[in-house]
Order: sequence, then C-alpha cells, then structure tokens
Amino acid sequence: MGKIVLKANEICKSYKNGVNKLNVLNGLSLLIEDGEMITIMGQSGSGKSTALNILGTLDKPDSGNLEIKGIDTDTLNNKDIAKLRNRDIGFIFQFHHLLPEFTALENVLIPTWIKGEFDFEAKVIDLFQTLGVADRIHHFPNELSGGERSRVATIRAIINKPCVLFADEPTGNLDEKNSTKLIDLLGQINRDFNQSIVITTHNPEIASIGNKQYKLEEGLLNKV
Ligand SMILES: Nc1ncnc2c1ncn2[C@@H]1O[C@H](COP(=O)(O)OP(=O)(O)OP(=O)(O)O)[C@@H](O)[C@H]1O
Ligand SMILES: [Mg+2]
Repeated sequence: MGKIVLKANEICKSYKNGVNKLNVLNGLSLLIEDGEMITIMGQSGSGKSTALNILGTLDKPDSGNLEIKGIDTDTLNNKDIAKLRNRDIGFIFQFHHLLPEFTALENVLIPTWIKGEFDFEAKVIDLFQTLGVADRIHHFPNELSGGERSRVATIRAIINKPCVLFADEPTGNLDEKNSTKLIDLLGQINRDFNQSIVITTHNPEIASIGNKQYKLEEGLLNKV
C-alpha cells in the first residue's frame, strides 16, 4: 500500500433552498494513496463537484472529517487551510479560470510566487516543452485554443507538486481529439511524476483509466 495522502471520513453535505433541504453527500469516505489514479463517475447533479470541492478544501462539509497528509483540516484556521491548499492541492476545472491579463507562463508561475519562490521559470519552460506547448509560452489565454488552455491549466495545477490533483470534468468543453489528448496527458503526469489524480466524469471511457474506479450514487462512493 502506498502512503495515504488524503483521507475523507463520513463526509455529509446538504444545501438549503428556503425550507427545502437537499442532501447531496451522505457519509462519503475515500482514501487516496500516493500515485493513485482515481476516477469518479456520476450523473449530472449527483454531487461530483460538491465532493471535489470539499476534498480539495474549497468548501466545508456539514459533518465528517478530512485529513490531508495526516493533518486534520478541522484543526486549521482559514489562512492555514489556504496555505495547505496552495501547497498540496491542484485543481483543473471544466472552465479553466486562467487569468486573462497574464501570459501562459505567468499563469503557471503565479502559484509559485504566492509560495514566495521565484526560481521556477526554467522548470516551467521544461514542462511546457514536455507537454507540447513550448511555443505558446508568451501567449495570453485568449490567444490559445481550448486544448492548449487546458494544458496550461494542467501545468499550473501541478507546478507546486500537489499531493493530489483534482480534475472536475476536465474535458467538459473540449472536442474529442483534445479530450483524448488531455486524458493522455493526465495519464502521463500520473506515471511520470507518480502524481495522485482524481478525475470526475460522465464518460465511461474516461472512467476506465482509473486504477480505482468509483460511482457517486446517493451521496456515497461505490467501487465499480
Ligand atoms: N450552492 C448550492 N446551493 C443549492 N444547491 C446546490 C448548490 N450547489 C449544488 N447544488 C445542488 O446539489 C446537487 C449536486 O450538485 P453538483 O454540482 O455537486 O453536481 P455534479 O455531480 O457536479 O453535477 P454536474 O455533472 O452537472 O457537474 C445538484 O442537485 C445541485 O443542484
Ligand atoms: Mg459538476
């Protein structure tokens, strides 16, 4: 068994809409080990984004407990959680949220600047080369194709060597060719850097690349 990097225990989450309460997560538990590729399939509205946001500390559960690298996140204040998130968690979203006024290179370097490190440029240029976007380094996001944007967002997400990379329907707005490229890229990152990755998807073909595959049903993760 690899080292456990994230442990979620009995996570519950509901949303209130006026007098109605919608239970989305009903005691979800998950262990993530170093280097694992985990896929989570679920229908629209099943709670995939809710789950990923909580596992990635962007949102808080109503009850249950989240440990990241052995640290109980309940013991941290908001500032320390933000620090832990910047250092240990990577996100790729369906819409990539690249900052429009910064170049591809700057977008990727921002998380390292936040960490107070300023000597990453050579490493980033290297990564752009490995991932096939070296000649787009000084382009602004609106000068990149959808597939190139998703590659840049992926490099940004892994630059701080997070212990887990979460990808929430990362191929949602890409055509088939670019979806395949991005999924291949995530596989390459998983193998080459032993990067733990969690991908949510509607697509059974994408789900099949997981070495652990789950379905999110009725607020719980069931092994496929
Ligand atoms: N902030 C919110 N307030 C109220 N209800 C919400 C909120 N966010 C999500 N929901 C509801 O919670 C349920 C789960 O939403 P979530 O976004 O996690 O689903 P999902 O599996 O990611 O769906 P999709 O595949 O469409 O992205 C949905 O029914 C949604 O309408
Ligand atoms: Mg979603």
